[in-house]
Amino acid sequence: MGMNYSQIINETARLANIVPGIFRKALRDINFKGYTIPAGWAVMVCPPAVHLNPAKYEDPLSFNPWRWEGMETNGAHKHFMAFGGGMRFCVGTEFTKVQMAVFLHCLVTKYRWRPIKGGNIVRTPGLQFPDGYHVQIIEKDQKKQDQECTFTK
Ligand code: HEM
Repeated sequence: MGMNYSQIINETARLANIVPGIFRKALRDINFKGYTIPAGWAVMVCPPAVHLNPAKYEDPLSFNPWRWEGMETNGAHKHFMAFGGGMRFCVGTEFTKVQMAVFLHCLVTKYRWRPIKGGNIVRTPGLQFPDGYHVQIIEKDQKKQDQECTFTK
């Protein structure tokens, strides 16, 4: 099976999710692994940290869209929550994925790019690029564009 856009989108959302945390409030005392979260306390879940669990994602810092091959990728689960999960699951998920697919399609079929400067990554725990990441975008010639428009999905 070939690479498809949803594998690339999922891997991007796993590694480059800009949501540093989501919050839930304990409505009653919760006992978890010997700890008690008292009623009324807020719990912060940090999806970018969850997404780097080496027990779940082999070589977690490497961008590897193939890891999503053959997997159901539309929902959320306890190891993948770029768009939250449960009752408050992001209502914009599908819209976002379509936007990303259109963007990626145009980018790879019409353009090439090369890094200029920056690209240093800091995770605190949210993802940041303190020096930015500058790329030069170059339009491909028309013949190449036509050839590569056969890359679909
Ligand atoms: C890459 C893009 C996006 C990411 C990473 C993202 C992420 C999230 C996350 C993590 C939540 C859950 C918050 C929580 O559990 O407390 C959420 C909720 C939500 N998102 Fe997004 N989102 C994105 C794009 C969008 C877009 C494009 C829209 C609207 C067109 C949208 C609308 C919403 C709304 C309304 C909620 C609240 C749902 C509820 O509380 O029932 N999001 N989003």
